[in-house]
Amino acid sequence: MKRIRARTRSRDYDVLVGSGILDDLGEALLSRREGGSVVVCSDENVASLYLDRVRASLADSGFAVSSVVFPAGERQKTLERVQEFYGVLYERRLHRRDTIVALGGGVVGDLAGFVAASYLRGVGLVQVPTTLLAQVDAAIGGKVGVDFRDGKNYVGTFYQPTLVIADLATLATLPERELRCGSAEVVKYALLAGGSLLTAVEYCATGGEPFDEAVVCACIERKVAVVHADEREESGERAVLNLGHTIGHAIEAATGFSRYAHGEAVGLGLRATLRLSQQLLGLSDADADRGQALLTALGLPERLEGVGSAPVCAAIGRDKKADRAGGAYVLLERLGSVHRDVRVPHDIERGAVEWLTER
Ligand SMILES: NC(=O)c1ccc[n+]([C@@H]2O[C@H](COP(=O)([O-])OP(=O)(O)OC[C@H]3O[C@@H](n4cnc5c(N)ncnc54)[C@H](O)[C@@H]3O)[C@@H](O)[C@H]2O)c1
Ligand SMILES: [Zn+2]
Repeated sequence: MKRIRARTRSRDYDVLVGSGILDDLGEALLSRREGGSVVVCSDENVASLYLDRVRASLADSGFAVSSVVFPAGERQKTLERVQEFYGVLYERRLHRRDTIVALGGGVVGDLAGFVAASYLRGVGLVQVPTTLLAQVDAAIGGKVGVDFRDGKNYVGTFYQPTLVIADLATLATLPERELRCGSAEVVKYALLAGGSLLTAVEYCATGGEPFDEAVVCACIERKVAVVHADEREESGERAVLNLGHTIGHAIEAATGFSRYAHGEAVGLGLRATLRLSQQLLGLSDADADRGQALLTALGLPERLEGVGSAPVCAAIGRDKKADRAGGAYVLLERLGSVHRDVRVPHDIERGAVEWLTER
C-alpha cells in the first residue's frame, strides 16, 4: 500500500492506494478519527459488489455503521437527492464528529461529499473511489457538488476529505467503457507530466494492461500538487487540470450529454488540444502524433460524430469557465510543459473542432 500526503490550506489528509485495501478502511479511519457513527453512501451497482465488505471493516473497528444506497448515474446528482440524504442523517441523529463514507464513482463522491460539507456545516468525509476516474481525479482535491437544471456541477463547494482509500482491485469489476473514460484523465496527466509517467502510461496502453499502482499514484500525486498550489481555483494554477476539457465539455453539452461519456469527450478534447498546440505553440508533429497514438491505443474515439462544429463552438462560448474574449485554453508547448491562458481566436477554435469531425 502506498500513502500519499495531500496538503491544503483547509486540511491535510492521506490518500491510500493499493490492491485489496478496502478491508483496511475501518482501521485506517479509527487511527484518524475517534469512533462514532458512519453512514456509507453508495449506488446500487457498487453497493451490490462492495458494501458488505466496507460495512464489515468499519463494524470490526467499532463504528456504528448504516448505509444509504441510491440508483446509479449522473441523474442522481441533484438537490432532491441531497435533501433526501439530509433526512436520513437527521433521522439517524448524525453528529459533527461522525463520518460519511462515499463508496463509488465520481457521482457518489460529489453527492455524498456535498452532503458531508453542508450537513451541520460539515461532518467527516471519507472518499472510497471505485472507478478509475474517481481514483485519479474526482475523489482528490475537494470539489463536491451536484447538478442544477442543465448546469453540471452548478451547486457545490470545496470540502477536503479526512481520508481517501483507492482500492485498485475494485477496478476489476468496472465496465470497460468506464475504464476507458478514466483512461482519458490518465492521458491528461501523462501529457501534463511528460517524462516517465508518459512512458509508463504508453507501456500499459500498448500492452493492453491495466494501469498499475505506480501510474495511479503518479496521477494522484500530480493532482495533489496542483490542488496544494491552488485549492480553490484562485491563482489559476488549478486550471492546468482543464487540459482537453474546454472542448470536451462543449462536445458533451452539444450532444445532449448522451452520445459521449465525459472521458470520451475529453479524449476528443485532448486530440483538439494537441492540434491547437501545434498551430499556436509550436508543439512538434512528433509529440502531437505521440499523444494521438496514445489516445488511439486506449480505444478513445478518433473522430467527432453526430454533431457539427457550430453547436460545439456555441457550447464553448457558454462554458462557465470561458470568457467572452475568445476563451482561455491550456495548451502544450512540449509534452510535459503547458501554457495556461492561451487566447485562441474563434476561427482557429472552429478549425480544430472541424478537424475533429473530418479526421
Ligand atoms: N469532484 C471532482 O473534482 C470531479 C472530477 C471529475 C469528475 N467529477 C464527477 O464525477 C462524475 C463521474 O464519475 P464516474 O466516471 O466515476 O461515474 P459514476 O460515479 O457514474 O460511475 C460510473 C458507473 O460505474 C459504476 N461503478 C462504479 N464503480 C464500479 C466498480 N468498481 N465496479 C462496477 N461498477 C462500478 C457506477 O455504478 C456507475 O454506473 C461526474 O458527475 C463528474 O462531474 C468530479
Ligand atoms: Zn474530466
